[in-house]
Amino acid sequence: MFETIAIVGATGAVGRIIRQLLEERDFPYGQIKFLASKRSAGTTVSFKGKEHRVEELTPDVFEEIDLAIGSTPDDVAKEFCPWAVERNCVVVDESGYWRMDPTVPLVVPEVNPEAIDDHQGIISSPNCSTTQMVVAMKPLHDFGRIRRVIVSTYQATSGAGVKGQADLKNGTKAFLAGDQYKYEAFKYPIAFNLIPQIGSPKHQGYTSEEMKMVKETHKIFGDDSIRICPTCIRVPVDNCHSESILVETERKITVKQARELFASAPGIKLVDDLDAGKYPMPADCDGDDATFVGRIREDLSSDNGLAFWCVSDNLRKGAATNAVQIAELLVKQQAAV
Ligand SMILES: NC(=O)c1ccc[n+]([C@@H]2O[C@H](COP(=O)([O-])OP(=O)(O)OC[C@H]3O[C@@H](n4cnc5c(N)ncnc54)[C@H](OP(=O)(O)O)[C@@H]3O)[C@@H](O)[C@H]2O)c1
Repeated sequence: MFETIAIVGATGAVGRIIRQLLEERDFPYGQIKFLASKRSAGTTVSFKGKEHRVEELTPDVFEEIDLAIGSTPDDVAKEFCPWAVERNCVVVDESGYWRMDPTVPLVVPEVNPEAIDDHQGIISSPNCSTTQMVVAMKPLHDFGRIRRVIVSTYQATSGAGVKGQADLKNGTKAFLAGDQYKYEAFKYPIAFNLIPQIGSPKHQGYTSEEMKMVKETHKIFGDDSIRICPTCIRVPVDNCHSESILVETERKITVKQARELFASAPGIKLVDDLDAGKYPMPADCDGDDATFVGRIREDLSSDNGLAFWCVSDNLRKGAATNAVQIAELLVKQQAAV
């Protein structure tokens, strides 16, 4: 057990779910601290039925912390993770800053749990759109070796944090009332619209979010030869990202085989009955830790292609749940020493 643990970014959209998960999963600890920016220092957050004071994130606070789960913007993680490591605190980090650092394992417990063994103080959790895709890819890859992926995402506004969620609600109210609304998280109105850009222009017409899906998938599978073509879209959904995924495999996978593989894979729930109108939808997956898969079809345009639909709660499995699962692996690893 880690004696003192901390949530860094405890007031954020992901931080709120980390608090819920530590409570739900009865995560072991002696003491717990809640850290955020100077703006929130002195306010309170609720945890286990009590209000707890938020402390300002400073280097010295890590003197007393053994394990930190961080969900802050990249520039904040860039600064605070070294403060923690220098003081022998292990960090599970949600931000994008450390993910591609060769000394930092990038871990999804259902896919590459063994990678945590090599950590040097920081372990990264992937981008939300990557996490649900690699969980779904894993059983197919083990069975038939995936060579190519074409993926289009339908990403919820909670992926842009508390400001993103507020933008959808307030923008919708203003739209219906015929009022003006100044969006904070998005460059264009998200109410009654969708935005085919997430992140900044990065590489040959692809955005930073799209290139994260490529690079992070390669790192997690340890296989740079998987060809991936992503398109990331922000949609007016409060929570849960959806993805339309087409994989091409070396060995053909039939629909029946795919259903069996998904049904027995850890972390996946299969909801796949088109005739009965059953498939995963964001409204049904909200608050669940699983990655949902449905609409499984053989590709009509290639020999070894398989198409499916995948939905997951981006604040849970796409962020907080994955980080807490990594922290649980660390607790197990510590107990085994
Ligand atoms: N949302 C998702 O679906 C998702 C999924 C995967 C990964 N992530 C990553 O997780 C991280 C957090 O995302 P989020 O959606 O939770 O964002 P958010 O709702 O905006 O929360 C950001 C958190 O970081 C804190 N923070 C900001 N500046 C700080 C500073 N200078 N010092 C200390 N704390 C500071 C904020 O505290 P204050 O309240 O004091 O500002 C808040 O607690 C981001 O790196 C994001 O990319 C998010």
